Amino acid sequence: MKYIISFIGAGNMGSALAAAACKTVGPDRIIVTNRSLEKAKSLADRLGCHLAPNNLDAARDANFVMLGVKPQDIHQVTKELTPVLTGNQVLVTMAAGVAIDSLARCLDKPVPIIRILPNTPCAIGHGLILISASEKDKKHVSWLMDILKAAGSFQVIPESLMDSGCVAAGCSPAYAYMFIDAIAKGTQAVGLPYAIGLTCAANAVLGAAAMILETGKNPEELKNAVCSPGGSTIEGARVLEEGGLYNIVARAAEASYRRNIQLGKENE
Ligand SMILES: NC(=O)c1ccc[n+]([C@@H]2O[C@H](COP(=O)([O-])OP(=O)(O)OC[C@H]3O[C@@H](n4cnc5c(N)ncnc54)[C@H](OP(=O)(O)O)[C@@H]3O)[C@@H](O)[C@H]2O)c1
Repeated sequence: MKYIISFIGAGNMGSALAAAACKTVGPDRIIVTNRSLEKAKSLADRLGCHLAPNNLDAARDANFVMLGVKPQDIHQVTKELTPVLTGNQVLVTMAAGVAIDSLARCLDKPVPIIRILPNTPCAIGHGLILISASEKDKKHVSWLMDILKAAGSFQVIPESLMDSGCVAAGCSPAYAYMFIDAIAKGTQAVGLPYAIGLTCAANAVLGAAAMILETGKNPEELKNAVCSPGGSTIEGARVLEEGGLYNIVARAAEASYRRNIQLGKENE
């Protein structure tokens, strides 16, 4: 086909993944479009890739067709694409809460569908993309990962785990920003300028995350290694535990999960 991947919807996530794909397959094999075409045009100009004037032209000649639209728009866009999609293409959805089956029902023929869940750090190449596909469509997953590899890393999971995985991978960057901001504000209150505190906290969280991933040790063990008896860290950790840190984060995760389920039902 003329294009390896097309992007329908050039918003935050669509444009981040289009930028990643351009790095791997080259802008000449990528085409983008968007409802307000100006937005897609500025993305195409920035990346040097092709611009399609409408969704049908974007989808017609691409191996993968990536839908970067909101959950409430995705069924209408999928129906619109039906006349041009063939079983030799792969439709990719990133819409939170929307099941593969519900998109398949919008099509009048079998078209492979892959569901992904990217997070915003994909914009700088440090993202995580959750991926699921039915057994028959799994063969297309490794090519898609190859196309998007500049966005970060991947975790293939069963679709039944997508709504909870979305909380851990997609929502949690927002939780982490709040935690880093809270550390910077807390240390500001004890005399450290906010900007210095923010740099320290962001680097500390980055390093702590790398410790978990690279050593394979569990967070409890790593925390205990910082908390020497009678030291300052253990005093702060005690306040966090007594203040209900674990409980409040669990409640946040449950609220995000419930909203994912609701989004899926609202957009069936
Ligand atoms: N942001 C995240 O952290 C995140 C994480 C995981 C998954 N997602 C999923 O990623 C998808 C996109 O999210 P986002 O944050 O990138 O949203 P966004 O910035 O609002 O982007 C959505 C884009 O879709 C375009 N669009 C809407 N209807 C269209 C249509 N009929 N044809 C062509 N383009 C159309 C919009 O164009 P206009 O501007 O002209 O309306 C907009 O540019 C959502 O399904 C979301 O669930 C997001």
